[in-house]
Amino acid sequence: MSTLSDRPDRAVVGEALPHESAALHVTGAALYTDDLVGRTAGCLHAYPVQAPYARATVTAMRVEPAYAVPGVVRVLTAADVPGVNDAGVKHDEPLFPTEVMFVGHAVAWVLGETLEAARLGAAAVQVDYVEHPALVTVREAIAAEAFQGARPHMERGDVEAGLARSTHVFSGEFEFSGQEHFYLETHCALALVDENGQVFAQSSTQHPSETQEIIAHVLGLPSHAVTVQCLRMGGGFGGKEMQPHGLAAIAALGATLTGRPVRLRLNRTQDLTMTGKRHGFHAQWRVGFDSDGRLQALDATLTADGGWSLDLSEPVLARALCHIDNAYWVPDVRVNGRIAKTNKTSQTAFRGFGGPQGMLVMEDLLGRCAPLLGLDPVELRRRNFYVEGQSTPYGQPVRHPERIVAAWEGVLTTGEVGRRRAEIAAFNASHDDVKRALAVTPVKFGISFNLTAFNQAGALVHVYKDGSVLINHGGTEMGQGLHTKMLQVAATTLGIPLSRVRLAPTRTDKVPNTSATAASSGADLNGGAVKNACEQIKERLTAVAAGRLGVHPNDVRFVDGRVRGLGDAGESVGWDELVGQAYFQRVQLWAAGFYRTEGLHWDSSRMQGSPFKYFAYGVAATEVEVDGFTGAYATRRVDIVHDVGESLSPLVDIGQIEGGFVQGAGWLTLEDLRWDESDRPSRGRLATQAASTYKLPSFSEMPEEFNVSLLEHAHEDGVVYGSKAVGEPPLMLAFSVREALREAAAAFGPAGAAVDLASPATPEAVYWAVESARAQAADEPLARRAGHAHLVVGGKGVEPEQPEPGAPVLEPESERALDSAVSAGARR
Ligand code: MTE
Ligand code: MOS
Repeated sequence: MSTLSDRPDRAVVGEALPHESAALHVTGAALYTDDLVGRTAGCLHAYPVQAPYARATVTAMRVEPAYAVPGVVRVLTAADVPGVNDAGVKHDEPLFPTEVMFVGHAVAWVLGETLEAARLGAAAVQVDYVEHPALVTVREAIAAEAFQGARPHMERGDVEAGLARSTHVFSGEFEFSGQEHFYLETHCALALVDENGQVFAQSSTQHPSETQEIIAHVLGLPSHAVTVQCLRMGGGFGGKEMQPHGLAAIAALGATLTGRPVRLRLNRTQDLTMTGKRHGFHAQWRVGFDSDGRLQALDATLTADGGWSLDLSEPVLARALCHIDNAYWVPDVRVNGRIAKTNKTSQTAFRGFGGPQGMLVMEDLLGRCAPLLGLDPVELRRRNFYVEGQSTPYGQPVRHPERIVAAWEGVLTTGEVGRRRAEIAAFNASHDDVKRALAVTPVKFGISFNLTAFNQAGALVHVYKDGSVLINHGGTEMGQGLHTKMLQVAATTLGIPLSRVRLAPTRTDKVPNTSATAASSGADLNGGAVKNACEQIKERLTAVAAGRLGVHPNDVRFVDGRVRGLGDAGESVGWDELVGQAYFQRVQLWAAGFYRTEGLHWDSSRMQGSPFKYFAYGVAATEVEVDGFTGAYATRRVDIVHDVGESLSPLVDIGQIEGGFVQGAGWLTLEDLRWDESDRPSRGRLATQAASTYKLPSFSEMPEEFNVSLLEHAHEDGVVYGSKAVGEPPLMLAFSVREALREAAAAFGPAGAAVDLASPATPEAVYWAVESARAQAADEPLARRAGHAHLVVGGKGVEPEQPEPGAPVLEPESERALDSAVSAGARR
């Protein structure tokens, strides 16, 4: 066992503690960036001038009328930028654009004494635009061949040979929606400048170091002239990994130009119309199975709807390619990826970071093909799991695949899946207008940043003379409980009670060059660094204690705030006293810690390597009930077994699993981003601009019964205290909800009906799936003769797969059915 993962007998990690800020959260006392405004004298407020076109050129801008508005202090335009006029790292995101790329694009910002003055000032700025044709949908971009960035290609084996030897070959097309982060705290920055031009920006950011870098390049300053601090976020979910930078840069620019603090907080409508979301995707695929339903070959093209600029679209797409296999062995694979450039917000990181999109393609095709193969979907999935010795399409061995089976069997047993499915069959047989179904789906998710260099972290740990400890690390807190875990790691390593350790806010002048708190790796990376810093201090204190206790340094133990030699008898010394003694011996009582994840390599040009430290596994079983008149549904019960290694903090981890699952269910079943695709003047406008039109999961959508347990005996070697990352993987457990809805809809048709389901599977979409199942009953002889349902449709602008000559074609019933359909043809 590695020293990193070795856990002492008496450890604070593993204790079921509440979130370190839970009391502050629930009493409203927790401070977020915008709460600092009331504590900062003389703040100016920033308000954007948002363009009303999806694509246009700014031909003239008159700012004078804004200055006529009482309280307006300054209008910020491109001419004010002393450094680089760009908000990102790809240099494709002008901070003050002359080319408008989406409805809501900010072309200028107004600073006012009050928010209202700034708002009125922004309304007074006069902008002339020349409008251009815009691409709003991914299909339009594909037809126009409007792509941006890398076009990755991942391949193993010979896909054509794999398809040729397959007994069953199916092909299909699938377009699915993105998702709005809807963090409770919208984007916010507060920037100050001191007497030397040193900038201090408070920002709601998952990536303070990059926020610092972007502020520096916009202002033309070296990084040491800019400090960024993040107290905490009211949710980030990936939406604050890249998107805060330009907004913080606007605040910093305003502060530099006026000498006053500048606060920029987006209101909800601005946040929804200006910032990026989860990428929707278009997928086209061909898949082959042998006569036993074992996957033989997969050929897929994934097109991410990137929006107007690259942002994180390339790594999101790479992760989608790396997760299309999910938990299944596919011998011959070819996946191509591309990023559509559309006139929408620049889509970005969102919990799972492309993983959910890649895996959705696989889970969708398995759900669609199972009836066509005549197999129970539970059996089809189970049959295709990875086994020891197999590797992913990108060449990484799949370690511990038996954990997928353990979690799967755990869920089948504790969820009483066999008994309940029999009950469901009886229920369905006696109910014509409501149907139930229970689906089980697995998750395998790779942990680490694909880009190897990002897998490093730092920490700074101070032990004060009185024995109290202050820790600082490079990760940010967004509600996920990272700080709670880091406190537990420090207390465990130093062998002191949790109450002796305090944590200071994340800031770039304490720990530099940090990676984003993302890819679920916050605890792995920063935990490694905190542990390393604590070990350095402990080693020095060990020498002091050995001298004092008269024992060999190897025999010194730190437990519960006391230090003693091996064995219970003998002298011991209290932690505080030992620390005081060490100070007088001039022993350094603080340390900078560092961690780099070992054993990673990744060749992004070939899409090959071992980019992940390990895989996180989980399984969920979900039972739903669907109303045949309306498509409305309820989630009756969810059972989850999830692998978090040996948990650092079980309550936090269970909260992450519950929250991730519900957020995934929101993406797949409720949250329906609608963009105006018409030719009206409002073309390109986001129609769902508020919680009134964008349906989020709430209590009424929670499972009636929700059982979450952690996989047992799951110690992970080589990771801090044997734990595993938990932030993102559980989101993908929600595939079980979608598959249960599909199976419940299918239950309205003849036995073995295959139905397609749009994503999100809103009640409306479920209703159309129910209708298509019922239509199969009407056409039963046709479907029977072919041995499977056979739908062939073409999309606007995309070349459809041609049906085999003479194959029966069932015309789609509805417009909605156009969104997804399988064309199926049995071979050989
Ligand atoms: N949980 C809460 N409550 N709020 C969040 O914003 N973000 C998720 C996940 N869980 C998030 C969350 C995302 S996208 C990631 S990558 C991880 O937390 C990041 O934190 P970690 O690396 O410490 O797990
Ligand atoms: Mo999470 S999408 O990696 O911030």
